[in-house]
Amino acid sequence: MSIADRLLITFVFITLLLVTAPVFAQGAVATGEGEMVYANNCIACHQLEGQGIPTAFPPLAGHVPALVAAEGGREYLVKEVLYGLQGEIVIAGEVYNGIMPPWGQLTDQEIADVLNYVSTAWGNEASLPEGFTAFTAEEVAAQRGLELTGEQVLETRPGL
Ligand code: HEC
Repeated sequence: MSIADRLLITFVFITLLLVTAPVFAQGAVATGEGEMVYANNCIACHQLEGQGIPTAFPPLAGHVPALVAAEGGREYLVKEVLYGLQGEIVIAGEVYNGIMPPWGQLTDQEIADVLNYVSTAWGNEASLPEGFTAFTAEEVAAQRGLELTGEQVLETRPGL
């Protein structure tokens, strides 16, 4: 094989890599989006495995599906992320009386993505109600502009 042939093969190979790389990258972003939003905005309090910190930050693992399944639970979850939460809640016998800051600065799509992530991660998927459909950006947009306080969000929390 001549040097020219080798150069040609190398050139073709690099071109192929350059053309296909963004396609692979796009696939990875699409599936990992919610996990990334979680890692950037939620993990400090709710922790890597969604286990939370007892009495300080409530667990999302083993808990979010119950909220999804409750009447009004989906709207509550959207509001909870958009406007935050303040006041006493009890989860698995533990009392939480903290403040969750609002995350309205995230886009509708990012909030939908992170809600889909916390609904399905850490084994939560297996406990979702039958016929669960993914949260959508439209569903988040519908709850914008209400300007609720964390206490007002608490009033909309479904009884579990
Ligand atoms: C600064 C810490 C902190 C961060 C960051 C945080 N949370 Fe929270 N979160 C809390 C606290 C504290 C509560 C409980 C508030 C209370 O006691 O009223 C809570 C409650 C919740 C609840 C409601 C649980 C229930 O049973 O009603 C959900 C859902 C939730 N957080 C999801 C998220 C998501 C998703 C993010 C990231 C976008 C996030 N949190 C970021 C502290 C945090």
